[in-house]
Amino acid sequence: MDEQDMPQRLVDAVIADFPDHAPGTRPAHTIGLGVTGYFRGSPIARDYCIAEHFQGHNVPVTVRFSNSSGSPVQHDGWSDARGMATRFHLQDDQATDLIAMTLREFFSPTPEDFLEFSKEARPRPVKPDPWWRKILDMLQLKPPNPDPYPGQNESGAPGSLDYANHHRSAQLAALDAAMLGAPVSYARATYNAVHTFIITAPDKTKRYVRFFWQPVAGVEVTDPTAPPVDDYLQGELRERLRDWPAEFLLLMAVGEGGDPLLDPTQAWPLHRSRVVMGMLKLIEIPADQETFCEKMSYNPGRMTRGLEMSDDPVLAARAQAYEVSRKMRGGSPCPFSKG
Ligand code: HEM
Repeated sequence: MDEQDMPQRLVDAVIADFPDHAPGTRPAHTIGLGVTGYFRGSPIARDYCIAEHFQGHNVPVTVRFSNSSGSPVQHDGWSDARGMATRFHLQDDQATDLIAMTLREFFSPTPEDFLEFSKEARPRPVKPDPWWRKILDMLQLKPPNPDPYPGQNESGAPGSLDYANHHRSAQLAALDAAMLGAPVSYARATYNAVHTFIITAPDKTKRYVRFFWQPVAGVEVTDPTAPPVDDYLQGELRERLRDWPAEFLLLMAVGEGGDPLLDPTQAWPLHRSRVVMGMLKLIEIPADQETFCEKMSYNPGRMTRGLEMSDDPVLAARAQAYEVSRKMRGGSPCPFSKG
């Protein structure tokens, strides 16, 4: 395969997974809401990383929360991953992005594998499995296929599970996805940046780290036995911000020798040292969502001094694919800066 084609192939693969994709919109995480606020690095953060947003002063941010589907139809009540993309607006029109989602691991260790995975994950007709099938699955330690939602005729979930049954690398993410549920609020979910990044300390020590956002309001999902509501997450956030900012702690796990540094499908041991890197306060929902959210383009490769991408091949491929996607949908790198 021609390496040059890979970013375009990845975007095409995502589009193929959502046949109702609307051109001019994001092919994944299509439904979203932009929110502004600020981030303040914790007192310890600057000892770990020299990046500007970890130096302890308030840094303006634009966050976009999203549902992971590439369909333009909003199904807030469906059990699915959610996204939280954060742009830190730095001095001199510079910026850095941190893109995170509610799954803790990804399905694929390489872009080539993602192309195979996404072929399997194309929507198939779905109907509820009979009770004996569910029991059989559980006895084989396979997550049972979720029952379709009312009116849902097709889903990518059965294909993803089949793929995971034959590819060990996809199993953690598939298990995680099967148990996600729907958050009661965008501000009540944990979001993981999944990949490994490299930070530089003031004494030039480099560390391999993984970032995740922990909601101060706590994690909660909707009642899985209640009929799903299609449209509540954006209204809930608007309502919530009228009373109080939505707050998140930025946590950082520090990798150690032997950890899978370059593979986003593998978890790190839970007892790895975790450092609180700062606090995010989300305050306002800009009225002009088209300019300050929909047209904006986040990129996992938008780094800054003191913060580098690791050699994770999926991370490198994403950085290129998101730029292809931005151009295809006419997005702007950053509506706030000249860059
Ligand atoms: C090979 C793997 C992946 C591919 C090909 C892919 C592809 C894409 C594309 C094309 C977009 C739309 C970009 C745009 O038009 O601005 C997108 C958005 C997004 N992706 Fe991925 N993605 C991958 C992996 C991941 C992973 C591992 C995460 C979690 C950290 C993630 C989280 C997100 C989020 C949160 C958004 C929405 C960003 C926004 O609000 O602008 N993706 N993805």
